[in-house]
Amino acid sequence: MATQLTWIGHGTWSIRTGGHTLLLDPFLDDSPVATEKANRVAADFILVSHGHFDHMSDLVAVARRTGALVIAIAEIAGWAGQKGIKNTHGMNLGGGYDFPFGRVKMTPALHSSTLPDGTPGGNPAGFLLTLEGKHLYFACDTALFSEMRQIGDVGLDFATLPIGDNYTMGPDDALEAVKWLRPKRVVPMHYSTWEVIAQDPHAWATRVRAETEAEPVVLEPGGGLTI
Ligand code: NI
Ligand code: MN
Repeated sequence: MATQLTWIGHGTWSIRTGGHTLLLDPFLDDSPVATEKANRVAADFILVSHGHFDHMSDLVAVARRTGALVIAIAEIAGWAGQKGIKNTHGMNLGGGYDFPFGRVKMTPALHSSTLPDGTPGGNPAGFLLTLEGKHLYFACDTALFSEMRQIGDVGLDFATLPIGDNYTMGPDDALEAVKWLRPKRVVPMHYSTWEVIAQDPHAWATRVRAETEAEPVVLEPGGGLTI
């Protein structure tokens, strides 16, 4: 069975694998680019990388409607619990767990993570997923960090990296990240949602193709690929 990825836009992904639907970083109704809405998006599991609104603004609404299991760092899982979401699974950096859909390892991210209401969101995270025997890395919001070399040692079939600059790494550092991660395919994300993170993903893809072994795939919001 293959895994089907759909980029909903910005840092938001839908992942269909083995009959399960995962929703990563739900930013839908207030997103200028999202191709899904909170009142209809499918989710059996919701993964949240950190507490910024552009990664979790629809978390509570989607979790309430779907009953999906919320997988997040302990602080955000606890915060969701206080909002009445009982179906949560707290993790922390470096930890892995086998869920019904596959394995989740919570990886470090170099960023910040205060929730919109001011609650500390713990450390920001990324996710290394093992789905149907394939390794997929979602860097989420982060600066370049040297442990990406070690994340890449697993042999990545897919990676998605922010290229927007300003809030996360920009195109230059994301190119370096591809060299360290060595994924088979890489998709840029977290760019051009707003003017402050406007980037040309095709120019970046040209550099990736010239300087690395990875195959860059530029998606439009709503587009996807099969791993
Ligand atoms: Ni952020
Ligand atoms: Mn963000």
